[in-house]
Amino acid sequence: MNIKSKEEVNKIRIACQLISKVHKQVLKLNFVGQSELQIKKYIMDLITDMDIDELAFPIIVGSGVRSLILHAEPTEKIVCANDLVLIDMGLKFEGYCSDMTRTWPAGGTFSNEQKIIYDIIKKAQQDVLNSISKNQSLFSLHEIAKNSLCRSLDLTDLKGRYDIQKIYPHKTSHWIGLDVHDGNVYIDEKNQPILLQSGMCFTVEPGLYIQNTDTKFDGIGIRIEDVVVITESGFEILTA
Ligand code: GLY
Ligand code: MN
Repeated sequence: MNIKSKEEVNKIRIACQLISKVHKQVLKLNFVGQSELQIKKYIMDLITDMDIDELAFPIIVGSGVRSLILHAEPTEKIVCANDLVLIDMGLKFEGYCSDMTRTWPAGGTFSNEQKIIYDIIKKAQQDVLNSISKNQSLFSLHEIAKNSLCRSLDLTDLKGRYDIQKIYPHKTSHWIGLDVHDGNVYIDEKNQPILLQSGMCFTVEPGLYIQNTDTKFDGIGIRIEDVVVITESGFEILTA
């Protein structure tokens, strides 16, 4: 179930290339002054123009403090220059899904605090990618992400002021295939974590959603998500 054939991986690859293209186009939009719903409409128009007829899940657009919401449904909220904009979207190609999240500063530059958190998450994602091997499971990759996040956070004013479960309340990875959260099975019949094998496709999506820490980081929500496939020789990132 978790292992995809070459043909299936190819369909996921194409779905990932298409959503990467959409994300790239979205970056050309000036977010400031637009509502989240207008951003969603812009995305929907792009997708329609690309002749894509099925989303993998409803488009998520969360700006400002709404980036703290894991699955923010776009609203009439107008995006301000200092806001972050979290966009999480996926589409289907011949039934197979993609899933990709980017978080951008609406006005084009991160504040100091936003940049610190962005870099911490980027590093956590890279630490996970560097650890991918056939001895790992999605559970162990999650531990690697959490440890990386905590190590970096402890070098900031957030040290001693956060609970990682509260500011990172979701898992780092899920399988992807015909469903965006494909076959919710992460342990085998012997109750052991499923180890990574060639043909397995999954997301790597660390994030932080910071609130109630009484620091200048409160209100920052950032997630970075890419899709990876395990290959014979290592792994390939399918989104870019
Ligand atoms: N990107 C949506 C999700 O993973 O739930
Ligand atoms: Mn996901």
